[in-house]
Parts: sequence; structure tokens; C-alpha cells
Amino acid sequence: MRYNIVKSNFYNDETDMLTVQRETSENRCKNILSPKRIAVIGVGASGLTAIKCCLDEGLEPVCFERTDHIGGLWYYTDSAVDGQACVMKSTVINTSKEMMCYSDFPIPKEYPIFMHNSYVLKYFNLYCKNFGLKKYIKFKTMVVSLRKRPDFASSGQWDIQIRNRDSGEKQDLVFDAVMICTGHHAEKNMPTFPSLDKFKGKVIHSNNYKDSRGYEDKRIVVVGIGNSCGDAAVELSRVASQGDVKLPTSQEMWDDIHFKSDAMAKRYVKSQRHTIQVDYVDYMDEIAEIGGNKPDLYALLKKDPKLALRCFFGACTPYQYRLMGPNSWTGAREAIMTQWDRTCYPLKTRPLGFEIEKSQLKFFFIYFLFIAMFAFIVHYLFMS
Ligand SMILES: Cc1cc2nc3c(=O)[nH]c(=O)nc-3n(C[C@H](O)[C@H](O)[C@H](O)COP(=O)(O)OP(=O)(O)OC[C@H]3O[C@@H](n4cnc5c(N)ncnc54)[C@H](O)[C@@H]3O)c2cc1C
Ligand SMILES: NC(=O)c1ccc[n+]([C@@H]2O[C@H](COP(=O)([O-])OP(=O)(O)OC[C@H]3O[C@@H](n4cnc5c(N)ncnc54)[C@H](OP(=O)(O)O)[C@@H]3O)[C@@H](O)[C@H]2O)c1
Repeated sequence: MRYNIVKSNFYNDETDMLTVQRETSENRCKNILSPKRIAVIGVGASGLTAIKCCLDEGLEPVCFERTDHIGGLWYYTDSAVDGQACVMKSTVINTSKEMMCYSDFPIPKEYPIFMHNSYVLKYFNLYCKNFGLKKYIKFKTMVVSLRKRPDFASSGQWDIQIRNRDSGEKQDLVFDAVMICTGHHAEKNMPTFPSLDKFKGKVIHSNNYKDSRGYEDKRIVVVGIGNSCGDAAVELSRVASQGDVKLPTSQEMWDDIHFKSDAMAKRYVKSQRHTIQVDYVDYMDEIAEIGGNKPDLYALLKKDPKLALRCFFGACTPYQYRLMGPNSWTGAREAIMTQWDRTCYPLKTRPLGFEIEKSQLKFFFIYFLFIAMFAFIVHYLFMS
């Protein structure tokens, strides 16, 4: 499978985007002659790329989205809607732009490294526009039922019922396959505590929390220590009244830390929170091995040592999984070689007006090499 880059300079501005034209493989030709119809349910981060991947494979996607917009939970709304996840007004993504981007569509260099949710949504819109995905999406359309067809064993087909959210009109459709991209944060996990019903104050789940307005000078307890809890606690601490907070004893805190480390060491404890926690590179490699697109760094070292070293020393950005194997992308090399440029670009608010000389770079390289060797020897001799 090969791609022709029609225009490959990475975004001089937002309108100057990467356009990719594909050459079809034999399988793809087959799909195009008798395209399979695929229902994609939901158009958040997952649904968007599901549509694109269907198109890449010569399939015919139809995406049903119950709201009137793309982006799923990254589309911020001032009012909470039950059953619909949504970021808080202040949410900043917790993964850097080079690590979180779609593997064939780098995030513009002008965007901050850790983006506010409005930038994440902007990026999804760029992706959608660049690959012309909007025409495959039916907005305000709710999938209300999904069933295997009576002849599923031979046809593999699905019966889908959709409902237009404006008119209420229902429609029955048949699809060859279904991709469920409805998200996994829409339902609240609301714990109950003894005597909670006697509490006179307000109780709110983070799913319904938007911003700190209305919480000024209140005494607030935030339960949990996930990212939602952390974000809410930090934001509320700026406006809440100071309670009489007393830390546990140092021994109690150390016991707790050791307990948590042991539990993590035994991967994975039975907890809702840990079910989607993985080591990034190991996980990506494992998936890529199945897909046949795990980068072979040894082969790459012989062919393109500069690129191999970049890949080895990281960061291990998603583009690495587009270097070889099925769905490889000729823009991947350039994306990897320029990933630090895009990372550093938004930080250069006061350019120096001159470049660092090569001799200085050489000095730094040798200096860091020396430090690395020293650390390795110390580790090998005394710590292993
Ligand atoms: C507050 C918060 C912050 C997060 N921050 C990060 C982060 O910083 N980094 C990170 O990597 N991940 C983060 N996540 C994880 C998040 O789940 C993913 O980033 C990603 O947005 C999930 O996308 P998705 O497409 O799977 O689901 P969603 O974004 O939830 O999209 C699902 C879509 O399906 C639609 N839908 C649902 N049911 C139907 C139906 N029956 N018919 C039609 N349409 C339907 C919904 O309307 C929605 O548009 C965060 C999650 C939350 C809740
Ligand atoms: N970009 C961001 O900054 C951002 C913001 C919000 C969310 N997110 C993402 O969204 C996803 C969901 O995050 P989340 O924070 O909403 O959920 P979460 O990760 O599941 O965290 C829930 C927290 O509540 C605790 N908890 C659950 N039941 C409890 C009980 N009965 N008593 C006390 N504590 C209880 C859990 O403890 P245990 O761990 O012990 O179960 C955990 O600490 C994650 O992938 C996260 O990264 C990202």
C-alpha cells in the first residue's frame, strides 16, 4: 500500500494542509468494486478516525452522531447533558500534541504542546476537513437499536434502527459491519456513602462540573484522585474557603505510598481506574506487531541510520507506526524528523535571531554522551 504526497509541507498555516492521495492495492480495488457498508456510531476522536480508516480501505462508511457536532466529549457545552461526557471549561489535555495526534496528521506547530480543549476540537475539525469526512456523517441521528440479522451466520450483517432527533422519525437500515465509537465516559460512576442522604449541601459528579462559579467561599470535599478530581480540586482551591485540613502522619502517608506502589507493581489491581492503564511503547508495539506495522529499528538502522536513531531515542510518536507495513505513510519520516520543531515552535516567543553554531552543538553532544556513559557505568557497577 503506498501513498502519494501531493503537498507535504506541514502547515505553513491552517489552510495549508497536508493532502494525501492513495494508490489502491488489490484488496482495496476489490472493496471498491463491491464496497462493504460500515456503520460508525459516534463521531468523537474514535469515530472520526474510524471513518477515515474505512475510506482508506475502500469501504463505505456512514457515521451516525446524535449531537449536531463532531469531537464528542471535547466539544465543550455550558450545560451538562446526562449520558453525554464533556470536558470541563478549563480542561487541558494530559498528553502532548506529538504523542496524541493521529498518526498520519501532525498537529499544527503553532498549537501549544499541551492543548486547551478548544485547540483539541480545532484539531479534530482540521482532520475532518482535510480528509473530507463531514459528508459521511449524519448529525442529530441517534442509533437506537443494533441487532444481528436473522441470516447473520452467513451474511455477517446487522440491522440498525436510527432516530432523527429533530423529527423523531425512525428508519431501519442494514450494514455489513458496525464500529461502535460511543465513548466510555458517558455514564457516571456515582458512589454512595452512609448518611449521604442526610447531607444538606450540594453533591455533584465531575461529569456535571463545568467551572468554579457558584462554589466561592464554600467548604468542599473532592472525592477520588483521578484526573477529573485533580482538575476540579485545583480549580476549586482558588475560590473555596480554607477548611481545617490536617494531613495524615508521615508514617501513614509512607504506608499509603508503599501500598500503592506494590499494587501497581502487580499490574493490574481490580479497579475501574486501572483497566485502561498501559505502558505506551509496549502497548503500541504489541498492537503494531499484530497489524504488521511495528517499526523494525534494526532494518531501519541499515537503511536510514539517522531516522533509526531518532526513533530509538524518541519520543516514540505515533508516526513511527506509519514507517513500514500496511498503511505506511511517506510523510512519516518527515513528521518524525520535524516533531521537535513543532514541539518547540510555540515556545519560541522571543526568537534570538541567530542559530546555535555547529561547534557548540558538537560540544553539547559530546558532553551529554559523556554523562550518559558515566551514568551507565555507575548503574552497571553499583546498582545492577
Ligand atoms: C473530562 C475528560 C478528559 C479527558 N482528557 C483526556 C486527555 O487529556 N487525554 C486523553 O488521551 N484522553 C482523555 N480523555 C479520554 C477520552 O475518552 C478520549 O480522549 C476520547 O475523547 C474518547 O473519544 P471517543 O470517540 O471514544 O468518545 P467520545 O468523545 O465520548 O465520543 C462519543 C460520541 O458518540 C456519540 N454517541 C454516543 N451514543 C450514540 C448513539 N447511540 N448514537 C449516535 N451517537 C452516539 C456521542 O454523542 C459522542 O459524540 C478524557 C476524558 C474525559 C471524560
Ligand atoms: N485532560 C485531563 O486533564 C483530564 C481530565 C479529566 C479526565 N481525564 C481522563 O478521563 C478519564 C477518566 O478520568 P476520571 O478522573 O474522570 O476517572 P478515574 O480515572 O476513574 O478516577 C476516579 C477516581 O475516583 C475514585 N473513586 C471511585 N469510587 C470511589 C469511592 N467510592 N470512594 C472514593 N474514591 C472513589 C477512584 O479511586 P480508585 O483509583 O481507587 O478506584 C479514582 O481515584 C481518564 O482517562 C483521565 O485521564 C483527563
